Amino acid sequence: MALDAAVVSSDPFSPPADSTLWRRDFLLGAATASYQIEGAVNEDGRLPSIWDTFSATPGKVLAGDTGALACDHYHRWESDFDLLSALNVDGYRLSIAWPRVMDEAGRPNRKGIDFYKRLVARLREKGLKVFVTLYHWDLPQYLEDRGGWLNRDIVYRFAQYADLMSRELEGQVDAWATLNEPWCSAFLGYGNGHHAPGLTNGRYATQAMHHLLLAHGRAVEVLRANDPGSLKGIVANVGKGSANTGSAADAHAAHLFEVQHNAWVLDPLLKKSYPQDLFELWPGTEPLVLEGDMETIGTPLDFLGINYYFRTNVKSDGAHGFTEVPLQGVERTQMGWEVYPDGLRDLLIGFNESYPSLPPIYITENGMASDDKVIDGRVNDEQRISFLKRHLAAVDSAIKAGVDVRGYFIWSLMDNFEWAYGYERRFGVIHVDYETQERTFKRSAELIAKFLEERNARA
Ligand code: FCB
Repeated sequence: MALDAAVVSSDPFSPPADSTLWRRDFLLGAATASYQIEGAVNEDGRLPSIWDTFSATPGKVLAGDTGALACDHYHRWESDFDLLSALNVDGYRLSIAWPRVMDEAGRPNRKGIDFYKRLVARLREKGLKVFVTLYHWDLPQYLEDRGGWLNRDIVYRFAQYADLMSRELEGQVDAWATLNEPWCSAFLGYGNGHHAPGLTNGRYATQAMHHLLLAHGRAVEVLRANDPGSLKGIVANVGKGSANTGSAADAHAAHLFEVQHNAWVLDPLLKKSYPQDLFELWPGTEPLVLEGDMETIGTPLDFLGINYYFRTNVKSDGAHGFTEVPLQGVERTQMGWEVYPDGLRDLLIGFNESYPSLPPIYITENGMASDDKVIDGRVNDEQRISFLKRHLAAVDSAIKAGVDVRGYFIWSLMDNFEWAYGYERRFGVIHVDYETQERTFKRSAELIAKFLEERNARA
């Protein structure tokens, strides 16, 4: 990708000389997920997922958008990977669509599997580190029809899927993440219904979470046996809570916010127990836990993936919970999310203090949506450039404070299907014109490519 002189000379992305980002062994990558980019939902034996069903249900996704075509990456992956190369990143995080690779009887679908084998082989040819997520929310509909994450049998089905893919890709994957953001699958999927499958029951949410985490633990054991040379981990979304006033009640509300968003997932993984405060927030929602479950869930991790986006300001609801009070006059993104880089640094430092068994961390997602437009062939995404720069600086300061962070993936490589918000919210460093499927490097992408070129030249 040719970089024009004006862009290069005003390079606002370049980090300070003492930043970890200059280190060749700090991995900078880009991330995507299957349902958000692939399209081709009926091709080569792919079966329906809960997101096909959910997005086809009127009122669930903004403007009635679906992932049926998305970025058509299923057909355009080769040229998309050329763009990835032009970005000069060290790694790529992708996810596998479970309904593409396995049928209801547990039989492998060769065409679907071969698609991912081609992707991974090409990434390796390009010298990129390959991070594969097994589950980024596109559950086969046939499993949801049997209760989805509410049916304990799914633990066995997920282990079977992990077994299949780790045999097929043995020796080819640098890092496996079992699940992307189990909090979203459990809470948004089964608790408030904002995501597929759209159920709304607090008790379901905690039970779904338990089965998600148990499936993760079983899958890690399978991955370890089948593909010993790779890293095994999980990706958790984390949120920063702040108290609306200095009152003890509001401080407690902010604490409960972080229990609900962070400790609900991280405590079972890293302390083998659920935070009891969660059940103060949601009385009577304790999941059914069988003997041995917490041991399985707490199986040691080689890495923890952290996805961070924003901070939420809360006050006490006067009883046992919290209510959001949006801060006025703060910088926000197209999602309405507050831009708060210090939250990332503070959470990382806090996790490092509170979890003695914290494994090395990769920031597996960070980024922002903006209403980007192509004007005269260019996309000037100033806010994203500044966002990335500030969040990378936050990661650098966490590292300097002693947190073992090994890499950072930008969400996302390209604009894509943003779940309940459809195509309106653009998170990519590459712009996608959904009419023509034309891709355009945004200015952020140009500057990242430029910085990495310089970093590589120095090393
Ligand atoms: C995360 C998801 C990812 C993307 C970003 C914006 O919660 O993991 O797929 O949609 O949010």
